Amino acid sequence: MRTAIITGGAGFIGSQLARRLLADGRRVLIIDNLSTGRRENVAELLDDPRADCRLIVGRAGAQIEAALRLGADEVYHLAAAVGVQLVVDDPAGMIRNNVSETVSVLEAARTAGAKVLITSSSEVYGKCPRLPLQEDMDLVYGPTTASRWSYGLTKAIDEHLALDFSRRGGPACVVVRLFNTIGPRQTGRYGMVVPRFIEQAVNGRPLQVYGDGKQTRAFCDVRDVVEALVGLMAQPDAVGRVFNIGSTRQITIDQLAAMVIQLAGSSSAVEHLPYEAVYGRNFEDPPHRLPDTSRLQNLIGWQPAVTLEQTIRELIELRRGPMLSGSTAEKV
Ligand SMILES: NC(=O)c1ccc[n+]([C@@H]2O[C@H](COP(=O)([O-])OP(=O)(O)OC[C@H]3O[C@@H](n4cnc5c(N)ncnc54)[C@H](O)[C@@H]3O)[C@@H](O)[C@H]2O)c1
Repeated sequence: MRTAIITGGAGFIGSQLARRLLADGRRVLIIDNLSTGRRENVAELLDDPRADCRLIVGRAGAQIEAALRLGADEVYHLAAAVGVQLVVDDPAGMIRNNVSETVSVLEAARTAGAKVLITSSSEVYGKCPRLPLQEDMDLVYGPTTASRWSYGLTKAIDEHLALDFSRRGGPACVVVRLFNTIGPRQTGRYGMVVPRFIEQAVNGRPLQVYGDGKQTRAFCDVRDVVEALVGLMAQPDAVGRVFNIGSTRQITIDQLAAMVIQLAGSSSAVEHLPYEAVYGRNFEDPPHRLPDTSRLQNLIGWQPAVTLEQTIRELIELRRGPMLSGSTAEKV
């Protein structure tokens, strides 16, 4: 049976990827230090006698060699410190986590001869003013006094590492830049907007929009994102290249708030908070983020299949509880 390792597999995207690979009949080894991820995210997989899934609790860099010795031929490297709030609170810890763990994963995969997919981020584009964002564009960052940019820089370093290893003796690496991804098991604790809005709307509290609400983003359902990850890992021509993965439907954060309120049938108001009140001084936020996904589409024919309304509707149902959302809970 083919075996895949998912670092960060007890997190939001990793736990969805585990479900997808297990459904394909794969054996899955998850390495997660449970910092932002949770055992509950994968508990049903670990307890399912038909699913060959194992959770190794620990740092990716410390556990990867032993996990590879169990016979894995592919590593999806998702483990990272994620979320604007975490980045602003502890940039040094985030930098150490995101860069040194990646070096260890790449070195171990080279020795074992396993292929690696590295999950980078739209944050690498920084505040690049041209849209849509294309993989070969110049990257534009703000000053080092604005700690937010440190996250994108760590992801850019990860990309350099992966591409360099891939060029010089391996492992074979694929790099993906994920744009805003949404779905079940994403937490709003570290600044993610959709789970925060849903929580606020369902509880009848004001939806807190950071900034003026005119900033735009494009949100992609995690099931679509995971299809792209698996498709790229399987495609030999993806090796040594970088791919954007995300939706190309732009929406302002004010429009998103209105959509969540409407789909939840909520009477919540919308309130705007200055960035400074939330993230402190020197915080910068790119006004727009929109991917060009033609490289991905041309190589594997990928298109997102789930609409934003569908994802939000399902997330609202899930948030309201199993009595109301049993059928949806099984699907996602
Ligand atoms: N969610 C998004 O919109 C988005 C956008 C761009 C990029 N990404 C990238 O996708 C990946 C997954 O993100 P996510 O949204 O699922 O976040 P997440 O926080 O849910 O998942 C990250 C997982 O990694 C684990 N982890 C962190 N450091 C670790 C370490 N040193 N060793 C082992 N495990 C560790 C955490 O416990 C968590 O389970 C990350 O690399 C992130 O940078 C996500």
